[in-house]
Amino acid sequence: MKGLYFATLVASAITSTLAAPVEPVEEKRAPKASSCASAVTLSGNPFASRTLYPNLAYSSEVLAAAASITDSALAAKATAVSNVGTFLWIDTISKISKVEQELQNIPCNQIGGFVIYDLPGRDCAAKASNGELAAGDITTYKSQYIDPIVTLFKKYPNVALALIIEPDSLPNLVTNANLTTCQNSADGYKAGVAYALQQLNLPNVAMYVDAGHGGWLGWDANLKPGAQMLASVYKTAGSPKQVRGFSTNVAGWNSWDKSPGEFSTATDAKYNKCQNEKTYVDTFAPLLKSDGMPNNAIVDTGRNAVTGLRLEWGDWCNVNGAGFGVRPTSNTGDSLADAFVWVKPGGESDGTSDSSANRYDSYCGKSDAFKPAPEAGTWNEAYFEMLIKNAVPSF
Ligand code: BGC
Repeated sequence: MKGLYFATLVASAITSTLAAPVEPVEEKRAPKASSCASAVTLSGNPFASRTLYPNLAYSSEVLAAAASITDSALAAKATAVSNVGTFLWIDTISKISKVEQELQNIPCNQIGGFVIYDLPGRDCAAKASNGELAAGDITTYKSQYIDPIVTLFKKYPNVALALIIEPDSLPNLVTNANLTTCQNSADGYKAGVAYALQQLNLPNVAMYVDAGHGGWLGWDANLKPGAQMLASVYKTAGSPKQVRGFSTNVAGWNSWDKSPGEFSTATDAKYNKCQNEKTYVDTFAPLLKSDGMPNNAIVDTGRNAVTGLRLEWGDWCNVNGAGFGVRPTSNTGDSLADAFVWVKPGGESDGTSDSSANRYDSYCGKSDAFKPAPEAGTWNEAYFEMLIKNAVPSF
C-alpha cells in the first residue's frame, strides 16, 4: 500500500515532464521464493521438482527490450518472456564475475541453468562463435576458466544447478575431423570436457554433455561414433556421478515430435531415422547406455516453434521466421527426456551477417537467415520481436 501511494504521488507530481511513471524493474519479476536451508544433493531428474531459473542477465535484456516497444500488447508479451527460465552462457572468463549474483538469487524451488562454453579453439567448424582461447591453450581453460567456476559453485552448496557442457564440441570431433581447425582443437576438446566433468562433479550439480541434434549425430553413420565419443570422454573423466546424460538441439531449430519429420522428404532422408528430437533422444540414449554412460536428456525448445523455414537441415544461423517454443517443463511425456529447457536466450544473435567481420560465417548470410544480425551473443531487437510474434504457445 505504501509503495503504491508513493508511486501515485510521484506520478502526479511529474506528469508535466514525464509521459508515464517508470516502474522499477523488480516489480515486474515474479515474487521470489527463498533459497534452500541446507545443502542440495541431486539424483534422478533434477527438473522433476524444480523449475528452470529465469536469470537476471536475460531478464534485464528482455525487460529493456520490452521498455522500448511502443505497441503495448507486444510489450506486455515481451515482459512475460522475462519470467521464462533460461540458461546463462558462461562464454568468456570475464563472464564468471556475473555468475555469483545469480547464485545468490536462485530459490529452492528452482534450478539454475549454466552453459560451460569456452574451450580452446571453440566452434572449430564455424566462425561465428570462435572463442577467446586459442587451440591448444588447455592450461588457461583449466586454471582461469573451470577452476574459478568450481570455486564459485562450491560457495553455494544449497543451490541446485544444471550444466550443459560445451555445446557442439564433441559432435564436431565426430563429423568435422577432416577440418584442420577441428584437428587442432581435438585434444583440447577431449581433455577440456573431461576436466570440466571431473571438477564440476559437485553434489548440487547435474551435468549434460552436448550431443548436437538429430540432424547432426542422428545420421545412421554418426549415431554409434557419437555415443562412443561422449562415453569415452565421460570415462576419461572417471565416470563422474553427477553426469546425468546429454543435451540436444542447443540453439537449434528442430521440432520435438513433428511427424513425419521436417526433412523427411529430402533425398538423403533414408540415411537418418532421427527426423525429430524425440526420435533422436530415444535412439541415441540406448547407445550411450550400452557404452556405459548415463543417458537422460534435456532438449532446447527455446526457438523451435516454427518448422519449414530452413533450406537445409544444417542451417543454424538466425533462422528467419522462427518463434519461441514450449516453455521449460519436466512434463515431456518421455521418460528419457528430463526436461524441455530454454538454452539459447532468444533475441541473442547466432552470428553476424556483416560479411566484412572477422567472425562472419557464410551461414549467417544465407537467404533463410535473418538480416541484419549482430555478432553472436549480441541483442537483436527485431529478431526478438519476431520470436514473440511467432511463439507457440503464444505469450
Ligand atoms: C555465442 C555466445 C553467447 C551464446 C548465447 C553463442 O552463439 O557464441 O557468445 O553467449 O551464443 O547467446
